[in-house]
Amino acid sequence: MTDPNSRTAGGTRQDAPFLSDIQELRARARRHMEKGAVTENYRADRDTVVRILNEALATEIVCVLRYKRHHFMAAGIHAQAVAAEFLEHANEEQGHADQIAQRIVQLGGEPDFNPNGLHTRSHSEYVEGTTLLDMIREDLVAERVAIESYGEIVRYLGNDDPTTRRLMEEILAKEEEHADDLRTLIETLAK
Ligand SMILES: [Fe+2]
Ligand SMILES: [Fe+2]
Repeated sequence: MTDPNSRTAGGTRQDAPFLSDIQELRARARRHMEKGAVTENYRADRDTVVRILNEALATEIVCVLRYKRHHFMAAGIHAQAVAAEFLEHANEEQGHADQIAQRIVQLGGEPDFNPNGLHTRSHSEYVEGTTLLDMIREDLVAERVAIESYGEIVRYLGNDDPTTRRLMEEILAKEEEHADDLRTLIETLAK
């Protein structure tokens, strides 16, 4: 079990970590795939916002990599419609990564593209999956992790940083669309 305080930057709020424990976030997304999530609020400062955005950036990069892998694997098993959907999502996640990196720089921070620790910084996981259905399910879990953590970011930002909040709200809306696309794909494949 990861110590939830271990992900808190700075020394002032060790008792109140911004994000829920990452293992718990992941576990919760798996347990309640059909439900929404209730998360917690904390107060923000710029360093914290930059750190949070770097975790969101890592999440987006991991999602790009996972969707790319799934795109090429699905293409290999002649599931062209699903492969096309994976590619569309990969491209949209790349767009999110770019928007987040740009915002980090606007805030005077540095976007972290270091592949070392990428998976640790990311909220969502990189799971390859063996069958087409596995891949779609893993993507849905990852989207739900992103939805949950981005919702938490939006609530955390509140009125302290409306620009970052608006950006994260737009990205959140797109992740919800992705999750809905995947749910539809699962239903179609089950027929
Ligand atoms: Fe995204
Ligand atoms: Fe997404």
